[in-house]
Formats: sequence, C-alpha cells, structure tokens
Amino acid sequence: MRVNVIVNGEAMTADDVWEGESLLYALRERLGLPGAKNACEQGECGSCTVYLDGIPVCACLVAIGQAEGRSVVTVEGLADGESLDEVQRAFVECGAVQCGFCTPGLIVQAHSLIASTSGVPEDAEIREALAGNLCRCTGYEKILDAVRLAAARKAAL
Ligand code: FES
Ligand code: FES
Repeated sequence: MRVNVIVNGEAMTADDVWEGESLLYALRERLGLPGAKNACEQGECGSCTVYLDGIPVCACLVAIGQAEGRSVVTVEGLADGESLDEVQRAFVECGAVQCGFCTPGLIVQAHSLIASTSGVPEDAEIREALAGNLCRCTGYEKILDAVRLAAARKAAL
C-alpha cells in the first residue's frame, strides 16, 4: 500500500509498504531518516520516540497506516538546518551523549517536556517525563543537567 505522511514539515510518500510495518521502520528504511533508533521494537526503551501530531510516541508501536495523513517530527526535524535546537545543543554541551543510542528519543521527549513547562522543571518532573527512555551509558545525571540547561535558556528568552 501507499502511505502519505508529513515528516518534518515535508509531504512524503512511501510505496509498497506492508500494512503491519511500523512507523519506525518506514522512517528509517524507506524515508531516509535514521535519527529515531531501533533498540527494542517493543515500546520499552524510548529510543524511537518521535512526535506524532505533536505528541511523543514510540514509533516502533505505531503501524505506518496509522500515520496516514498525519504529522511526524523526528529528532532531525527539531534542528534548523545545521543549527541545533536548544535541547540538542544542551545535550552536547552537558556531555549527555555517550553511545548516542538513547539520545534521539530522549531529546524529543525532553523537548516536549520543556515546551509544555514554564521555567525549569523540578528534577522529579524531569525524571517522570523521561521514565520511558532508557539509557545504559550516562547514569542520567548529565541528561538531567541538559534538560535543566535547555529549560533555563528557554525561560530566559
Ligand atoms: S525501539 Fe521503540 S521503544 Fe524501544
Ligand atoms: S548514551 Fe548510550 S544508551 Fe544512552
């Protein structure tokens, strides 16, 4: 079947799609967007998190047919060309990226938290928002630093 999706603001079409295929597979293997990572494919790790109509979802749990006509924003879409989004920049500056497998999902989830929060969220709020995003490398402290930094910069604008 053919699927039409708006990805990062651009109308995209995928042909010969198997109806049971995931949004994650279509993004990575058909649409040339490998930012969302495929770690568990079971909704357990959050590495595949993307926005679907403005809501963060695990792309591995969304059948591509469910995305027909909808808007998807991936970690690639948060940047403006070569210019990183505030959350992406904070992750780099704070050393919150090690192997990087969890990073795209964490950035999308943190981006959503910061967009819906005024000021800097409490640590408990950050931990709760990111509870579905697993990281095996960093110990999470640098990730919290990055979220606090991005939120503080946004609040200062
Ligand atoms: S790959 Fe989707 S939650 Fe792990
Ligand atoms: S940086 Fe490696 S899993 Fe998070």
